[in-house]
Amino acid sequence: MRHVRIFDTTLRDGEQSPGVALSLQQKLEIAHALARLNVDIIEAGFPVNGAAEFECVSRIAREVQGPVICGLARTHKLDIERAAAALEKAEKKRIHVFTSASKVHLEYMLKKTPEQVLELTDQMVRYAREFTDDVEFSAQDVMRAEFDFVRKLYQTAIAAGATTINIPDTTGYGTPPEYGAVIKRIYDEVVQGREVHISAHCHDDLGMATANSLAAVENGATQIECTINGIGERAGNTSLEEVVMALYVRRDHYKAKTQIHTRELYRISRMVERYSGMVVQANKAIVGDNAFAHESGIHQDGVIKNKETYEIMNAELVGREAAVLVLGKHSGKAAVKKAFADLGYTLDEAQFAAVFARFREIVERKGPIQTEELRALVESETAPT
Ligand code: KIV
Ligand code: ZN
Repeated sequence: MRHVRIFDTTLRDGEQSPGVALSLQQKLEIAHALARLNVDIIEAGFPVNGAAEFECVSRIAREVQGPVICGLARTHKLDIERAAAALEKAEKKRIHVFTSASKVHLEYMLKKTPEQVLELTDQMVRYAREFTDDVEFSAQDVMRAEFDFVRKLYQTAIAAGATTINIPDTTGYGTPPEYGAVIKRIYDEVVQGREVHISAHCHDDLGMATANSLAAVENGATQIECTINGIGERAGNTSLEEVVMALYVRRDHYKAKTQIHTRELYRISRMVERYSGMVVQANKAIVGDNAFAHESGIHQDGVIKNKETYEIMNAELVGREAAVLVLGKHSGKAAVKKAFADLGYTLDEAQFAAVFARFREIVERKGPIQTEELRALVESETAPT
């Protein structure tokens, strides 16, 4: 099985979510939690972006052991020097140099010709290599760029010493077959058997970030860039928990594995939710409140008989409590009977019929009920008169 590296960018691209501002203490805690999760690389920030950002990256570099610590830099000397200085004390460090590939970025943002961008790429990747052997190169907006220029850019970066080439779909524009095809062309026409990692970096503007990242793995990528809960600019980045669990649950298909300790996933998801203030939607895969909850009578009956009827993974595998049967208006008798049995009540048929009728009346009116309410219900319905 191929090893797919997990490059977490919660603290850099994730923090670029509108309205999110993490404190130094919160970033350190998240970085330690990412190390417990066993990610391969932590992108800790963009050191040239002010004193506070520099301090965060250098504290993480000094205090967090295990993963490679990475700092972002544009193709500017000062950016690279600040990244190198912030990463100085890291056990393992990476400088991530980036530019842009699409016409619209070159014309309006960089205000440079393609020749100038190629020259800067060559010079700045070489410069970054003076500080570390581990240099990643990215060109923003690959999916809206001309492939001939994309090819030249990445060839230049590799010749200058880049050891990982990251292919950002910055605007979340590509479809899985298109993104997969670009990765394959890069693998065939640029990497050509050299020891260079191809990395996927996808955004979720059309809800395809996870699918695109997985398509990249199928076509030769050995690194995925992602964030906890998928937080990030606009609609966010690829969600770490989704790609990790997809690679695990469907390892028969992808034939690739990560080194993530999956039982840490739920805990770190909650931490990032709390610190970022970005609430995880209830139906979010893996970490949402409903991801392992069953409410309909048919589903509950199936799960009581055999969990595999409606579950493709155990909740415990991602660090959650066992799947819950929500007792609501769609619940059937099997689930309600089981809930009473779990609470220690043995009801005869008449008692159960009375309690069940009362249960239905309550959930129709108020929605799902909790264990304590269920206990009160059975006590009141079965109390001697
Ligand atoms: O989305 C993007 O293009 C980025 C780059 C800086 C890698 O985040
Ligand atoms: Zn991004």
